[in-house]
Amino acid sequence: MNEILKNIYNRRAVRKYKHMTVPNELIEILLDAGRMAPSAMNRQPWKFYILSDATKIKRYSKEIAEIVVKELKHVSMKEAVKLTLSFFHLSTMVNFLTSDDHVFYEAPVVIFITSPKADEWGALDVGMCAQNIMLAAKALGLDTCPVGFARFITQTKDFYALNIPAEEEIQLAILVGYGDEEPKLHERLEDNAIYL
Ligand SMILES: Cc1cc2nc3c(=O)[nH]c(=O)nc-3n(C[C@H](O)[C@H](O)[C@H](O)COP(=O)(O)O)c2cc1C
Repeated sequence: MNEILKNIYNRRAVRKYKHMTVPNELIEILLDAGRMAPSAMNRQPWKFYILSDATKIKRYSKEIAEIVVKELKHVSMKEAVKLTLSFFHLSTMVNFLTSDDHVFYEAPVVIFITSPKADEWGALDVGMCAQNIMLAAKALGLDTCPVGFARFITQTKDFYALNIPAEEEIQLAILVGYGDEEPKLHERLEDNAIYL
């Protein structure tokens, strides 16, 4: 199979990482791949904030987990179940007892991707950029996990330390590292194409 297609099929969201640092040169290659993504009106609205301090990553994770739990108290039962299920993702249940980091899964690198709050296409552009990063990572022998819960970091007490301007919003974080698990494929739906 063609290498790009292979990467598309073999990429998995990985939630367990080896305690191995990722060389900076590789992170640079990933960011360059992200920058190659298409964007509405070629605005390239993304900005990357790269965190690789294990203590900070763990601290933010713990605080985000507490915030999500608190959030559960203010939503309807239906929403609470939905949020809980997505937070304690089925695959993370396996790691639940062995790790106390349920947001960033002790990944060595977390890349926060932002776009301007005023950019109506920001989320879509960042999504494309993120997928480029994840496929490039796979090509380099690295693993990744997109983490939407990273958005709650804005509510943590040390959020200011990331120096993310108020005009920007975090769309997604991408965890990067050398995977220490081989997650099974989640079956894909196939009844979603309507030929016209
Ligand atoms: C926008 C977005 C947000 C996500 N947020 C999280 C998250 O907060 N935590 C998590 O463990 N996985 C998260 N995921 C990963 C999905 O759960 C995962 O991609 C999906 O289950 C399909 O599995 P696969 O990536 O291994 O094919 C997110 C994925 C996307 C695209």
